[in-house]
Amino acid sequence: MSEPRVAVVGATGAVGNQLLRILEERNFAISDLRLLASKRSAGIEIEAFGDVISVSELQEDSFEGIDIVFSAAGTDVARWFAPYAVKSGATVIDKSSAWRYEDDVPLVVPEINGQDIESHKGIISCPNCSTIQLVMALSPIHLRHPIRRVIASTYQAVSGAGALAMKELRQQTIDIARDEATEINELPQQILHNVIPEVETFREEDGYTSEEWKMAVETRKIMHEPNLPISATCVRVPVYRGHSEAVNLEFDHPVDPNSIRQVLQESPGIVVLDDPATHTYPTPLMVEGKDEVLVGRIRRDSSNPNGIVMWVVGDNLRKGAATNAVQIAENIVR
Ligand SMILES: NC(=O)c1ccc[n+]([C@@H]2O[C@H](COP(=O)([O-])OP(=O)(O)OC[C@H]3O[C@@H](n4cnc5c(N)ncnc54)[C@H](OP(=O)(O)O)[C@@H]3O)[C@@H](O)[C@H]2O)c1
Repeated sequence: MSEPRVAVVGATGAVGNQLLRILEERNFAISDLRLLASKRSAGIEIEAFGDVISVSELQEDSFEGIDIVFSAAGTDVARWFAPYAVKSGATVIDKSSAWRYEDDVPLVVPEINGQDIESHKGIISCPNCSTIQLVMALSPIHLRHPIRRVIASTYQAVSGAGALAMKELRQQTIDIARDEATEINELPQQILHNVIPEVETFREEDGYTSEEWKMAVETRKIMHEPNLPISATCVRVPVYRGHSEAVNLEFDHPVDPNSIRQVLQESPGIVVLDDPATHTYPTPLMVEGKDEVLVGRIRRDSSNPNGIVMWVVGDNLRKGAATNAVQIAENIVR
């Protein structure tokens, strides 16, 4: 498959848009590009690879002749269309959670479990954005110092909730600066001047949100550690782009923070920024536009002799979504 024919489902959204830019940046060779979205967007023109391409409405027969489908729409849409795409011979790389938990669908972060791609049967899932940056940091540490328990608290950007949530923060900024009433449509409460401990929906069975549940279940699947104890609290913050995570790790024995620093410095896709004396640590503004996951504030957990605490920041639209999908496609083409 030297120059695949490619379709992007959800090309008008936050992830779909980023995906097109990353395909261009990485000179991903394609012989045909089809852009798909809902009926609402049919006819919209989008620039990609030097051409202006008209968006078509996604339909069951949209995939004739297509080799690779990047799916950047919601879960219900991906559940519906992916079997048609596979039937017509395409491989679907899906950003939604529609297929992630199926036993015969690999859930892949190429730096961590790229070998799992080989077992695919037409669909390959990309993990949730907050999971990708977490496993990028956890997995290399775990290979050197087996981790016994993980606690993660996230500070997630509004772009993680899609293009309309970004628009909502922008509008609230304007309305509140003018002392005018503002609207809440995309997020459960006003996000400007606020933080919201509700990312996705609450689960009746355990009080966690589905985002928190996903972080635990997906991390175990990617790391092939089905029993690793993980508890997450996911919080939306008024940041446009870049998720941050405070992560507590527990080991069987005390681990030197310098050893963690060294493991991470040697890991592909990770950059360690950790010098408190010069106020050097990762922030969302710093990670915007980068594919690397940044890690800092690495220290002993003062509440646990076998614990380490660290701060992990990633661009949710790049490594957390589009870049990861393109890396999977590069693997398939290779
Ligand atoms: N944002 C992130 O950081 C992030 C990270 C990881 C994973 N994800 C996942 O990636 C997916 C896309 O997220 P997003 O943030 O890009 O959302 P978004 O900005 O809301 O975009 C959604 C896209 O899906 C399209 N769509 C909606 N209904 C459709 C239908 N019936 N048929 C075809 N296309 C349809 C939309 O097209 P219209 O413009 O026509 O409505 C739009 O292009 C979601 O599953 C999300 O959970 C997002």
